[in-house]
Amino acid sequence: MRKPIIAANWKLNKGPSDTEDFIRGFESKLASLPKGVDIVIAPPFVSLVKATELLSQSRVRVSAQNMSEQDNGAYTGEVSAFMLKEVFVQYVILGHSERRSIYGETDAVINAKILKAHEVELKPIFCIGETLQEREGGKLEEVLRTQITDGLKDVSEKQMLDTVIAYEPVWAIGTGVVATPKQAQDTHEFVRSVITDLYGVSVSEKVRIQYGGSVKPDNAAELLGQKDIDGALVGGAALEVASFADLIKNGVVE
Ligand code: PGA
Repeated sequence: MRKPIIAANWKLNKGPSDTEDFIRGFESKLASLPKGVDIVIAPPFVSLVKATELLSQSRVRVSAQNMSEQDNGAYTGEVSAFMLKEVFVQYVILGHSERRSIYGETDAVINAKILKAHEVELKPIFCIGETLQEREGGKLEEVLRTQITDGLKDVSEKQMLDTVIAYEPVWAIGTGVVATPKQAQDTHEFVRSVITDLYGVSVSEKVRIQYGGSVKPDNAAELLGQKDIDGALVGGAALEVASFADLIKNGVVE
């Protein structure tokens, strides 16, 4: 049985003071939320220290939204895996479609970041997903297989068990258009089959695959109820305490 994992991807929202407000509000609701779920929040870099300090005694974990594949040196504007570790961050979102499409991150760069994260025992939340054009053009499986295979190159079996995959169809991110539970389940099943091809069934059965793209409190139950959907990566609906808490409550049945 895979433990679900629900992560809040705040993107370019919430500096330290908004982060503090959210965490104080969320912590006061935590006791009423299901226990059998890993909860992660991913604030922007400048808010990470505030988040890990406030959550040092909490079951809520903190994730970065990106990091450099480099350790140090002349890379203006970058943040390293070691720096994230130093401020007690435990997860890092890598390969988000906005990083791929707006900042030109390739599968090779994402792979280097995933390997670097594992080197310091940061857990990657590795994002994959197809555009509408790719899906409608019959390229869904080819696109996902390439993203997975190239993104996970040289990742060991043990590291794979500490990697979360987030399947996020690009056409569903921030659009309010959500994949149907069947579309999502079918694609998750395919993603898991690619992990089976690469790592064998005993690993693929344990790897958690989140769905992302317009997950809301009112569609979380249907989506997370699917056999191969092990949680959610949530943008818009994770910006308010009440909606993130409701989403977790509705999405996780104990
Ligand atoms: P959304 O974003 O929930 O606002 O669609 C999800 C994501 O990009 O991770």
